[in-house]
Amino acid sequence: MSEHRTGVGWDVHRVAAGRPLVLGGVEIPAQFGLEGHSDADVLAHALTDALLGAAALGDIGEHFPNTDPRWAGASSLLFLRHALELIRQRGYRVVNVDANVILERPKLKDYRERIRQSLAQALELPLERVSVKFKTAEKLGPVGEGRAAEAQAVVTLAAG
Ligand code: C5P
Ligand code: MG
Repeated sequence: MSEHRTGVGWDVHRVAAGRPLVLGGVEIPAQFGLEGHSDADVLAHALTDALLGAAALGDIGEHFPNTDPRWAGASSLLFLRHALELIRQRGYRVVNVDANVILERPKLKDYRERIRQSLAQALELPLERVSVKFKTAEKLGPVGEGRAAEAQAVVTLAAG
């Protein structure tokens, strides 16, 4: 059996008025968005870290410093694509990805298929290998109070 490797990623961004809410490359209609240097796509950031982690390639901030003007307002799918290139260069392919987005509002489940499709396209994976789940924080803590969004991701890679 070929070698399998697992990576985990996590990210958090503050909620802010006048910013877009981009999740997995999909802009979600909302009264607010997420603060950040790039498009603040918290889901793409967690997935990028999971990919990098699975191949022990450091983390997103090392590859894309948030002080670099090149990444100001950039689509975070670019970071995900770069991580995919790096793991491919090392002889790995993605088996599957799974993620959680924790955000009090808006309701995200109507956007699940669009987000999955966007990520599947970026990662060049069939849809059934891409999973995205949504949770509230039950009004607890900064996420529950509507002040932040979090994402968690797990990626499995296979050699060859
Ligand atoms: O957090 P909670 O368990 O109450 O979430 C119940 C369901 O609501 C989730 O399984 C998910 O399908 C949906 N949800 C959503 N958008 C969110 C949070 C949760 O669609 N922002
Ligand atoms: Mg981030």
